[in-house]
Amino acid sequence: MAARVCIVGSINMDLVVRTPRLPAPGQTLMGGPFTRFPGGKGANQAVAAARAGADVSIVGAVGDDEHAASMRRTLEENGVDISQLALREGSATGVALITVDEQGENTIVVAPGANASVGPDDVEAAGDAIRNADVLLMQLEIPLDAVIRAAEVARASHTKVVLNAAPARALPHQLLQLLDVLIVNRGEAAVICGRTDREAPESLARGLKQLGVSDLVITLGSEGALYAGARTIRIPAFLVEPIDTVGAGDAFAGAFAVALAERMPSERALRFASAAGALATTRDGAIPSLPGREEIEQLMS
Ligand code: RIB
Repeated sequence: MAARVCIVGSINMDLVVRTPRLPAPGQTLMGGPFTRFPGGKGANQAVAAARAGADVSIVGAVGDDEHAASMRRTLEENGVDISQLALREGSATGVALITVDEQGENTIVVAPGANASVGPDDVEAAGDAIRNADVLLMQLEIPLDAVIRAAEVARASHTKVVLNAAPARALPHQLLQLLDVLIVNRGEAAVICGRTDREAPESLARGLKQLGVSDLVITLGSEGALYAGARTIRIPAFLVEPIDTVGAGDAFAGAFAVALAERMPSERALRFASAAGALATTRDGAIPSLPGREEIEQLMS
């Protein structure tokens, strides 16, 4: 039987323009052609987990606009169960305005739309999807009270709780202690523990543990990734030619959730997730860039 992953998170349509460099404040830049890609950290991680081999369901909300229909179709086509995806009459579906520069780096601004309406009631209504999963995977593009309630429901039924704390914000101890694994990049780690991102990842990991986090992953881009649990593991990055980093963190988180659900040993789980993240940088867009299981295993070997 495939591992089961439940996502509680956001769904966005990504509106993307390629630019020669990232825009500075007050600057108008002429960019390349405009592209629309399905995205949103919740949807991206749902598809990432499905392509990495899990049975996936998603809890969240879309509006009643054309983006909603397109996002629902994309999730369904990727085998994600959308029976717990609410449709909010009169709301817009989340939208992300994205620029990607020539190095593949990006800026992202999200207009949350229906994502902002996801609350504890939606989580209660989807309780069975959370309880029946091996792993609950969440991000921070929906209100925090929904994230906390979902973590409580999962904890009460021995579903493992993974939080990808993006976009970063200070987090209450109540939530941090409910997590089995926290996944962050360096900047997010620094925001959560109130330090600077110039600190060594090992030191940031100690700072997060002092806040009550038991196990955590810090993704380090071209410097690889670090896992800090009962022991600390550091792996190098897979060498690829990045063209667009949008969705790479989501590919990592989705694949890591699958690895955890399949009870892979920590180092293999970290390599599995890193390979997925690396592959996602080699293609344009969020959901279109997410790799399948075979491709991930091929890069690992
Ligand atoms: O992590 C990338 C995602 O962040 C994009 O798809 C965008 O929608 C924002 O949620």
